[in-house]
Amino acid sequence: MCGIVGYVGHKPVVDILLDGLAQLEYRGYDSSGIAVKCSDSIKVYKAEGKLANLRDELSFHAYELSKSTMGIGHIRWATHGAPTVINAHPHTCNCGNLVIVHNGIIENYKELKAELEAKGCIFKSQTDTESVAHLVASIYAEVKDLTKAVHLATQKIQGAYALCIMHNDEPNKIVATKRNAPLVIGLGENEFYIASDVPAFIKHTKRAIYLEDNQVATLTPDKLIIEDENSAKIEPKVELLPWESVALSKMGYKHFMLKEIHEQPDIIRNILVGKLKTSDSEIELNEVNLTKETLKNLNRIQVIACGTSLHAAMIGKYIIENFCSIPVDVEASSEYIYRKTVTDKHTLVIGVSQSGETADTLTAIKQSKARGSHILIITNRPDSAMAREADSLLSVNAGIEVSVAATKSYIAQLTSFYLLALYMAEIKGTMKSDDLRNIKSEMLLLPQKIEQILSHKEEIQKCARKYSGTRDFIYIARGINYPTALEGALKLKEISYINATGYPAGELKHGPIAMLDETMPVLSILMKGSVYEKLLSNSEEAKARNARMIALTNSTDPKLDDLFDFIIRVPEVMELLSPLIAMIPLQLIAYYIAEFLGKDVDQPRNLAKSVTVE
Ligand code: F6R
Repeated sequence: MCGIVGYVGHKPVVDILLDGLAQLEYRGYDSSGIAVKCSDSIKVYKAEGKLANLRDELSFHAYELSKSTMGIGHIRWATHGAPTVINAHPHTCNCGNLVIVHNGIIENYKELKAELEAKGCIFKSQTDTESVAHLVASIYAEVKDLTKAVHLATQKIQGAYALCIMHNDEPNKIVATKRNAPLVIGLGENEFYIASDVPAFIKHTKRAIYLEDNQVATLTPDKLIIEDENSAKIEPKVELLPWESVALSKMGYKHFMLKEIHEQPDIIRNILVGKLKTSDSEIELNEVNLTKETLKNLNRIQVIACGTSLHAAMIGKYIIENFCSIPVDVEASSEYIYRKTVTDKHTLVIGVSQSGETADTLTAIKQSKARGSHILIITNRPDSAMAREADSLLSVNAGIEVSVAATKSYIAQLTSFYLLALYMAEIKGTMKSDDLRNIKSEMLLLPQKIEQILSHKEEIQKCARKYSGTRDFIYIARGINYPTALEGALKLKEISYINATGYPAGELKHGPIAMLDETMPVLSILMKGSVYEKLLSNSEEAKARNARMIALTNSTDPKLDDLFDFIIRVPEVMELLSPLIAMIPLQLIAYYIAEFLGKDVDQPRNLAKSVTVE
């Protein structure tokens, strides 16, 4: 998380930096800042909170900065130190000659700080980054060469970082480097851009170089030099980015989240085009780079992901096991990377990530790749670090997701899992042809059914309003919709800050039932199928403890009217596909509760869209 941006060239830099940071706001919005080269020295401007605050601050300096054509900027998601102006980047060394912006975590910052303080450096902030500012400055004082100083400093730094650095004594230069954090350089005409992510400069250029770990780049208006860790010059690979600059608009919706929820029917349609043509045709998934023979013999799959993507992965497990009879393990990447895991070349490893940048998932993928596993990545960002590690790449094509709370990317990941599971089932011959035909024909109807839900949102809005005053919320489900309960709860807590939890309903009586009383809403995801009756009994048990019962159901069973205080009805759908339908009202409930409470729906507190620290 955190986003960095830099520019050297001939155009006024302030707007380039601010526009770039605006495109990176998904990476954090605790504070922002820029450092620009002015005629006499580098000047630093910072503001707490959203980027708009920095824009306001800079409006007072518009004239004096109008001639500046070089600078670096930062948008912060706080890791070390509160989100204050002091802790905002850019950070400087004591004399102010060196400025630095950083994305990542310097793991040995305490040791570095002690060493630098002993040499007389005075630290002003609580950040890990400031130690790098002092470190590079102290090395620079000896070697008098910024590129060399950065090379030497990186030998002492442990952790993950992307860094952009400027120095008053080398006024036309930005030096940048990275390790386990993204950094991409955009190539213009006598100008260079550098950023954590492509949207920061895509409207200026599509030619780019992805910097690799431990490389050091020196950018001046007329020259770009990239060196490997031994200071040997390298010839970088220039890529043509597959991106269009899109003006991100809410299209009349109050929030991006609501707009993105409404995009879901078309996203499913787009994913299915060319892959699932009719209920009688075979699934076409050329993206899977494994021979039919290998797929037939595949006997284990490991899925790794975080957050919402982890919930999609849990449903993925359910359907792959059901359709293909292959055992599937699912694990949070952050847990997977710190234990002895047994993936090997006989395991298919699937990484799921909207951003394709999540640090834990990326590390997990790299670990499995090193052990010889085939890596299949399901992502919304075909240009991401994870995509570059992929042996097979399933790009979900949900379009840019602006809202921090993931909605359309989740539905797109799920749809991709269904296609993958059906594709493998066809090759392995593990499903009856009637079952295959039924599920395919129902899949083709999903967009319409979701549209039906979206066109009758008033009931959901009413429900949201009724329960918006609650402090806690429980979601229960069984079977394939247990991850739906987890995801529904996650959506609610991340944007409304209500303490919401999802449980497998059968587990309620093993402890959580103690929390139930007349103040606790319990939402039961009651989809017809194998666990319907069981879940009904679990709902009765909750009702008997006076909980405020809500049903999300596709059943018209009249006995539900006595059991539940509020019923949200969704269209008929077969149990195996029900997660794709059930999730839509849960996204809307979370949205409307947060909106009703006046929360910052698209940029909830403490969160960032891309989590590039472990
Ligand atoms: C929740 C949410 C997060 C992400 C998680 C993983 O709405 O968006 O839980 O799902 O940070 O991110 P990706 O999918 O980019 O790896």
